[in-house]
Amino acid sequence: MSFTRIQGILHAEQCNLEQVAKQFGTPLYVYSKAAFEKHYLDLHQAFEFIDHQICYAVKSNSNLAVLKVLAKLGAGFDIVTGGELARVLAAGGDPSKIVFSGLGKSEADIQKALEVGIACFNVESYAELDRIEQVASRLNKIAPISLRVNPDVDANTHPYISTGLKENKFGIPSDTVLETYQYANTLPHLKITGIDCHIGSQLTETQPFVDALDRVIAMIEQLKALGITLEHIDLGGGLGVVYQDEVPPTAKEYADSLKPTLEKLGLKVYLEPGRCISANAGVLLTHVDLLKPTNHRNFVIVDAAMNDLIRPSLYQAWMDIQTVSPNDADVKTWDIVGAICETGDFLGKERELALTPNSTLAVFGAGAYGFVMSSNYNTRGRAAEVMVSDDQAYLIRERETIESLWEKEHFLPEE
Ligand code: LLP
Repeated sequence: MSFTRIQGILHAEQCNLEQVAKQFGTPLYVYSKAAFEKHYLDLHQAFEFIDHQICYAVKSNSNLAVLKVLAKLGAGFDIVTGGELARVLAAGGDPSKIVFSGLGKSEADIQKALEVGIACFNVESYAELDRIEQVASRLNKIAPISLRVNPDVDANTHPYISTGLKENKFGIPSDTVLETYQYANTLPHLKITGIDCHIGSQLTETQPFVDALDRVIAMIEQLKALGITLEHIDLGGGLGVVYQDEVPPTAKEYADSLKPTLEKLGLKVYLEPGRCISANAGVLLTHVDLLKPTNHRNFVIVDAAMNDLIRPSLYQAWMDIQTVSPNDADVKTWDIVGAICETGDFLGKERELALTPNSTLAVFGAGAYGFVMSSNYNTRGRAAEVMVSDDQAYLIRERETIESLWEKEHFLPEE
């Protein structure tokens, strides 16, 4: 495991996190290179039975150093903006292994993606088909496309991260998939190469994946009868991780649950995992700022806040919080809160912890949807990011300075 205790003190690989916090300051995101590699390779090996490409979901953690570590292992990338495309290219990612998801790709982003030659556009509407056709025609290129279909499967996850139900905004509703493919087939600058679905995130059972696959396969068969044949199937991301006491499928269990069906199908498989690669490859370190026990509740005000890590506030996400070093204080029940003027600004509630005014805390599972969702609310500079490898800790993103937060702002001309 990449985050372990050595003589009671939490380490990332061989790096003492108390020292890392002192060296780089807090709040601080700390990632383990070995954890990223392991999570990627576990999945890669689990799908060895079939021709496949893992396209890491850049949105979950898009630091260039992270992308480079994965690119070196042969990862492809799932992107949703031109910004993410630029990041992948800057990190040395192979454009021919990129899939472009998202339901509102701009013309400029489509153009760039066509110019660098990505593997596939995952398309979500008629209007988007028309837009890609137009850009491809102007550039005299052929755009490889797949349709993101909405299989209407309940992912049994938080409503904000469930995407495969017909009331969600994502994908082509199953009752119009065939006609949309037929329409795409008439557009001369599009080449239909695949079919895609992504039903949600943080799934902790295999059944919804299996159900979605079955429904997509039924669509593939209907398409074949219409003379539309495909080269690949993209199963999206969504595999869950342990934050608390979840028991999500392992990479192998996930792959094995799909294996018989995929082997029979025989198409190349694309996957778009984010969280299962990045979440437990990172922690957020934060320092206790003030202890505020009251007669009703005990609050500990820490130097990280909802602007650094919004998951607890936004999704009521439970993320484990532990002290980096043991201490002799009494264990009490604490609410771990930031200093932002919002009641929703907390990292964890009712946690049994022994705290002193000097404690450093680690929030676990913070490698995914952590830094990438951070903001400058309350004019707080965003945290620094560090990646450790063995006994070395490298700064991979500098802490934002306060002055930099208004460097793009302008006064009105003086009257
Ligand atoms: N592919 C598509 C089209 C997606 O929309 C997503 C995530 C993924 C792949 C990667 O899913 P993953 O393997 O990471 O579950 N901010 C939320 C999660 C939002 C997920 C959005 N889409 C959170 O912190 O829980």
